[in-house]
Amino acid sequence: MNQIVGLFPTPLMRAERLLPQALVQMLVDRYAASASQANAHSAQLNHTEILALSENSELTRAGALIMPRLVEFGELLFGERLAWSIKEMWVNVLQTGGQQAIHNHANSFVSGVVYLTPSHASANTVFVKALGGSGFVFGNTHRQTSSGPFNADKWVMPDVSPGDLVLFPSHVLHEVPPNEGGQRITLSFNAIPQRLDSWGYTIGFIS
Ligand SMILES: [Fe+2]
Repeated sequence: MNQIVGLFPTPLMRAERLLPQALVQMLVDRYAASASQANAHSAQLNHTEILALSENSELTRAGALIMPRLVEFGELLFGERLAWSIKEMWVNVLQTGGQQAIHNHANSFVSGVVYLTPSHASANTVFVKALGGSGFVFGNTHRQTSSGPFNADKWVMPDVSPGDLVLFPSHVLHEVPPNEGGQRITLSFNAIPQRLDSWGYTIGFIS
């Protein structure tokens, strides 16, 4: 009997309907109209300014619901239940035809998205394994190949519902393809642990 071992897999956590509908609606009401910063790559994508959890009771409540999941997810990454802080949040308003170019999040360890509206299937977040590099790339992708966890270079989020939370390591590349549906609003954030300790060599982070 063969055994196949998935070496060094990357975790992604989805918590369905973590934020109650009433809170989701309050966040939409507060921020949908204030996302006035144009995205550099897409005219149909706007962001709010960077928000702090302490800014209002809605964000504070959202943060309180997210935090236990963040601690749990951080334990997968670092093997310990660490103290985490959400260092920034922002709201993204994606109109029909808009898209989010591929990127990852600097100066952060765990990033997250809370979906505040339904997301049309065309605009489901896509996570990308790797891009480019300085060597030649070989692939075997055609009609007869099947895609699995060891040869796929992308993973597309299944359909999401308002209130769903997704957590992923901040270094993972992701993008949102052109939105063929209606307005899609998300709350994004970055999080850092208070400290990491490698046999007494400790590094601390403050937000
Ligand atoms: Fe992002």
